[in-house]
This record gives sequence, C-alpha cells and structure tokens, in this order.
Amino acid sequence: MEASRDIQIQATKVPHLVILPFPFQGHINPMLQLATLLHSKGFSITVIHTHSNSPNPSNFPNFNFEPIPDGLSDGQLWTEDPITLAFILNESCQAPFLDRLSRLLSDGPVTCIITDELFYFTEAVADQLKLPRILLGTSSATCATTMASLKLLQQNGLLSITDGQPNTPIPEIPPLRIKDIPGIGTTDPDTFEQVGANVHNAMRSALGYIMNTFDGLESTALVKIRQDIHPVSLFAMGPLYKFSPRSSNSLLTQDYSCMAWLDKQAPQTVIYVSFGSLASFDKRDLVEIAWGLANSDQPFLWVVRPGSIHSHDWVELPEGFEEKTQKRGRIIKWAPQQEVLAHPSVGGFWTHNGWNSTLESMCEGVPMLCCPYLWDQMVIARYASHVWRVGMQLENGFDRIEIEWAVRRLMVEIEGKEIRERVSALKENAMRCIAKGGSSYESLEGLVDLIMSF
Ligand code: UDX
Repeated sequence: MEASRDIQIQATKVPHLVILPFPFQGHINPMLQLATLLHSKGFSITVIHTHSNSPNPSNFPNFNFEPIPDGLSDGQLWTEDPITLAFILNESCQAPFLDRLSRLLSDGPVTCIITDELFYFTEAVADQLKLPRILLGTSSATCATTMASLKLLQQNGLLSITDGQPNTPIPEIPPLRIKDIPGIGTTDPDTFEQVGANVHNAMRSALGYIMNTFDGLESTALVKIRQDIHPVSLFAMGPLYKFSPRSSNSLLTQDYSCMAWLDKQAPQTVIYVSFGSLASFDKRDLVEIAWGLANSDQPFLWVVRPGSIHSHDWVELPEGFEEKTQKRGRIIKWAPQQEVLAHPSVGGFWTHNGWNSTLESMCEGVPMLCCPYLWDQMVIARYASHVWRVGMQLENGFDRIEIEWAVRRLMVEIEGKEIRERVSALKENAMRCIAKGGSSYESLEGLVDLIMSF
C-alpha cells in the first residue's frame, strides 16, 4: 500500500519480533495484520500460538510458527464463557510460553515481544527473560476509557449498577446507559473484574501500547488514554486491516460463492447480516431474525455460523421462509467479510459491533444496524449510533416487526441515506490517517523507532 512504502528499517541484523495472539478470531485478525505490516517493514516474525484456534501457517509462509499447549479440552473454547477462558488461558499458557521463548532465545536474539493485552501473564515472563514487551489492544479506545471511568465511579460510590434500570443514563459518561456497561449481565462478575484488573496492572510495565483505531475517530479517548491510563508510548495504528498488506487469518472457511451472488444484486441494496465469531442465540431469536428479514422485502446476505444457535449445530429455518426469500436472500456459514463489505451491492450491515466488524463497516462506508451481544460491543454500538452516528441501534432484543422496520429505515429511508453520507466521510478520514503523513502512518514510524531503540 502506498501509505506505508517509505518506512523501512535499515539494520545490519534483522530485528526479531515474537507475537502472541489471543486465540479468538477477533483478536487473531488484528494481531496478524499488525505482524504482516511489521514484516513488510523488514522485521522477522515468530508467532507463538495456542494449539486451540491456531492460525494457518500456510497463509504466512514468511513467518515462523511455534505452537504451545493451552490446557483446554476439546470444545472448551466454545462452551466456556470467554472471560473465564481468558482467566484459564493466562494460568495454563505461562509455563509453555516461557519454555518456548527461552528456547527461541537460545537460538538467537529476540528484539521484543508483542502480545494481546488479554495475556497479562506475559508481564512476568518478559521480566524474567528481560525482554521488552509491547501490547496490542484489539478493542476501541473508547472502551478502554469507559472501563477506566466506570472503575473510578464505582470506587467513589457514584455508580450502583444493581440499582439502575437498564435504560438509566450514566450522566458522567454520556451517552452510555446502565445496559451499555461492558460485563453487565455476565454470569461471573468476579472473574470479569479480576481479569480486567490483571490486564490493567500488566499494562503499566509495557513499553508500548498499540491500538487498532485512528485519530480521526477516537481522538478524545486517545488523549485520555495518554493522560490517565498508559502514559508511555501509545500508537493508534488503525484501521490495521487497511494499513497492512492483505492476508487471510480466517479460522473458518470463507464461502466466496456469495461474491458471485452479490454481483447480481443492484448497488447498495443488500443488507449483510453477521454477528461475529462468538455471539450465540436462541432458536426463537433465529426465527425472529428470519421473519424480520423476510418481511423487510430487502435483499440480504446472512451469516449463520455453525454452533451459533444454542444447543444446535444447525437449525432448520421456519417453514415458508425459503419460499418467500429465495429470490433475494442468501444464507452462508462464514463470509469473506471484508470483501463483502467492500462490494458495491452491499448497502447496510446488521452487526453485533465487534470492534473489527465496526471498523470494517466504517472503512468500507457501510451504514450499520447495531445489535451488540457482549462486553465492548455495547459501548461500540452506542457510540456508533449516538456519537459517530454511522448506525442505528436495534433495542429490545429480536422482534420480527422491529427488525422489519429497522431494516427498511436503514436501507431505503432518508435516515439511512444520511447515515451513509456520514460513514462515507469517516471512510475518507480513515484513509487519510493511514496515508503518508497521517496519524496512523506516523504511529507506525514511532513504533518502528521504539522497537529499533531496544
Ligand atoms: C470480539 C469483540 O467483541 C471485539 O470487539 C474484540 O475486540 C474481539 O472479540 P468478534 O465477535 O470476533 O469479537 O467480532 P469482531 O471483532 O467483529 O471480529 C470478527 C472478525 O471475523 C472480523 O474481522 C470479520 O471480518 C471476521 N468475519 C466475521 C469473517 O471473516 N467472516 C464472517 O462471516 C464474520
């Protein structure tokens, strides 16, 4: 990409980076995008990864891959609550990671390790081996500042989550409401808090903090992080999927046949529906989504990920649905999402607002129907609809009448048109940030300088 052509390291020995992604799709994607970007600048890359959800080495022939055991049993990755998993993985990966890294060091120098911020155990390993450590945060800067503000409010007795109704606003952090708080409704609030505190503590000794966002979108939050949360080097380098040379990181097989189907649709008419890699639903929700889409009369491309319906590998769609939608609807198990969003026929994205999906939608200029599922997604959905105003939020769960109405508002009404204009401007903004001289471009320069100083 033209934006990054000029940054190239000049060194007699190629600096060696060890990367540790967290084994979820939404974390693997930005980490491998970052690694690909740094490799294109001249760094050598070793990816240490868990056995579970391991990336496919054949997609990255220039990287060295080193698997480590993670102690998870078959299927545990999908049955365990993700926060509990983060806790388990931090316990089980420390010794194997130390062992693998020590062996790498006996073969030659390692310049620095770059780890997902959720892997807080790496602080102890880096200290023990006296290696510089940089973190990648895979969510939005606004989520990081929200978490910090919530902690302060709770410490000072100014916020009681249990007393408020879900729609009660939190005046100190507008436009968020009680129901937008990350972790609200979690089955294990103690583990959620513990993991959050561990991540926060381990952040302090990191020598750099990379975020997959851009100044043109989250400058206020980035300033706050610089001031209050992570005073050392902060590098806002997003959107990484646009900045980095293209690579395939998908853990599931992407069904490219949908591209030919999209080719046959009229411009900006298709609503793309996908709720990411973790969200799961009841069968009842699936039925409401199906009828909402059918009754909206809009063309749709809908990803129903295997395992995403509670206790079912796959479920039959309601009778009559196929008949009503076969001329204008397509269902697939996993999409080449970035290509789908970039397709001229796609005019809207009904999303769970995972941070990657949100960035991908913004950076392809696609308006969103926001329907968050957990954690950071609630904050992102609220910001997307009420601050950045590039989407509208579907409140109150899944109801076929509300869905039908919301899809039409987004796809054919004036409201959707206005959102499209705003999201197109944001797309331009993102592209300016990664172009030479832009803020993300300069952050990359800063990161390269920092690593070369180790
Ligand atoms: C979750 C969080 O909510 C997210 O904010 C956090 O940073 C990581 O974990 P997830 O549910 O995986 O994320 O969603 P998202 O962050 O949107 O990542 C999903 C990725 O999978 C995207 O990069 C998307 O392009 C890709 N994807 C999704 C596909 O390739 N095909 C699909 O059909 C759907």
